[in-house]
Amino acid sequence: MKGVIFRGLESLVIEKCGMAVWDTLLEKNAPEDRVYISVQSYPDDELVGLAQYVAVALQLPIAEVLKAFGEYLFGYLLPRHSTIIAKFDGFVSLIMSIDSVIHSEVAKLYQEPNLPKIRCKVIEDGLILMHYYSSRKLCLCAEGLIYGAAAHYNMTVTLKHIECMHKGADECAIEVRFKQVIV
Ligand code: HEM
Ligand code: ZN
Repeated sequence: MKGVIFRGLESLVIEKCGMAVWDTLLEKNAPEDRVYISVQSYPDDELVGLAQYVAVALQLPIAEVLKAFGEYLFGYLLPRHSTIIAKFDGFVSLIMSIDSVIHSEVAKLYQEPNLPKIRCKVIEDGLILMHYYSSRKLCLCAEGLIYGAAAHYNMTVTLKHIECMHKGADECAIEVRFKQVIV
């Protein structure tokens, strides 16, 4: 997993719990003197280990932490990859282009990234079906990222994880129902 993702988690923990908590988490879960550099890769297990400790620190289930992290991560990536995100005029075009545009641009910027496979299909107005596959099984982070994208475009979303790799499925299937927030 790329350092940029760890830095997103670091930023979330420091914002919510303070620097001291992050330092303790690092001490327990990472090799000594670990510093995350955005473009470098670090073990996937280290991220999951850190997230597990965040769950303990915040007294939240790990599933909630991974979702909250995904949501936060979207906002964290936004200013760091604004040229990629500027290609989209709204929520639907962004979601439909995660693999073909966003992650393919990511693959040009970072060496050997570990990206999920995401396929999306518009089922009807206001409903997209997303298929997610990754050996890292971070589908809850994917959910969070969808929430983050929706918030960015002033949409409300309801997600239904109808099939899940954590429950033995070959890939996850997530129904994404969305509506524009009327202000
Ligand atoms: C990795 C999903 C948007 C950049 C990931 C991962 C997930 C994911 C779940 C974790 C790796 C895995 O599951 O195997 C999504 C979804 C998005 C989205 C659902 C939109 C709703 C973006 C955007 C950017 C981005 C906007 C930045 C331009 C990255 C990067 C990684 C990543 C840098 C790490 C790759 C690595 O560690 O090697 N994405 N993503 N993603 N994504 Fe996305
Ligand atoms: Zn799943």
